[in-house]
Amino acid sequence: MTEEPAASQTVIRVGDDYDVVIGSGILDRVPDLIGEQAERVLVVHPPTLRDLARRVASSISTKGYAAELAEVPDAESAKTSSVAASLWERLGRSAFTRTDAVVGVGGGTVTDLAGFVAATWLRGVPVVQVPTTLLGMVDAAVGGKTGINTAEGKNLVGAFHPPVGVLCDVDVLATLPQADFVGGLAEVIKCGFIADPVILDLVAADPAAATRADNPHLRELIARAIRVKADVVAVDLKDNAVREILNYGHTFGHAIEQVERYTWRHGEAISVGMVYVAELARLAGHLSGPDGEALVAQHRRVLESVGLPTSYRGDRWEALLTAMRRDKKSRGSTLRFVVLDGLAEPARLVGPPDELMHTAYGLVSAG
Ligand code: GLY
Repeated sequence: MTEEPAASQTVIRVGDDYDVVIGSGILDRVPDLIGEQAERVLVVHPPTLRDLARRVASSISTKGYAAELAEVPDAESAKTSSVAASLWERLGRSAFTRTDAVVGVGGGTVTDLAGFVAATWLRGVPVVQVPTTLLGMVDAAVGGKTGINTAEGKNLVGAFHPPVGVLCDVDVLATLPQADFVGGLAEVIKCGFIADPVILDLVAADPAAATRADNPHLRELIARAIRVKADVVAVDLKDNAVREILNYGHTFGHAIEQVERYTWRHGEAISVGMVYVAELARLAGHLSGPDGEALVAQHRRVLESVGLPTSYRGDRWEALLTAMRRDKKSRGSTLRFVVLDGLAEPARLVGPPDELMHTAYGLVSAG
């Protein structure tokens, strides 16, 4: 990974594959990320981002590509096989070839869908991702995981299909609902705990500013979180080894999401999940002594300082355990957790005793 700062943008290279461009007022640079061989471009977007998508399509047309807009439903209802099929039909009708491109404009659901359609059309065409949420910028749009949901669960059908470029215009975050912005911060803070403690320092220096889209350090926070992810996916695209560390807090967090039937935001659930797994790590001897206790306390302090939850109701253990055992990150019937041996020192905890997991639950229970 290399980084190239410029006056108005930061460029993070992911392996030898693609650039993530982060900046302010850079939406019109989307065409720079589309391959020169492309003739047609399909811009996929939800109804709420119609104007933004039109602007992106117009900048693409100005550079000589034939741009078409494809509106898809909002949020998780975009990630269905019928919506994917409608986009395949569209690509077919417009005679998209292997060198033509798809652009995903939206949050994680739209970029997951656009990436999946690009991965499967003609066995793979280029996709440029333009994430419009903080969560999308620091997680979903980077790293090449694409997918749709089935009746049996989320992201059960998908493909690893890295984008040819990702463009993060931080200006679009100004209109993001506050709770969604703070939810996205959970993934940023996660990157601080697993790899880049400067993120935690930046948040702790002014937590109130960290929750606002006009935070003077926003671009740096986003760039640092993306750099953590870029380093990981550059060496483990297919999630066979080190990529697992990106799931810090996710085993318990995903269980909360399932038990709450996805009424909790992802970031809120993984916020509690990080505190849970920090407590579990301490009980299992990964975080020992006063330093270990201080690190667990730091989890609560940083997450609470930006308004993220750090506890969960105390009467859901059986349902949570069942959900954790079903989690797709489990291998066989053995539960695996990403834990810390210290700040920015990720490790694995495999098959902890039920009693230990239950005790950790007690420590994050709100009563
Ligand atoms: N969101 C975790 C990953 O991309 O691997």
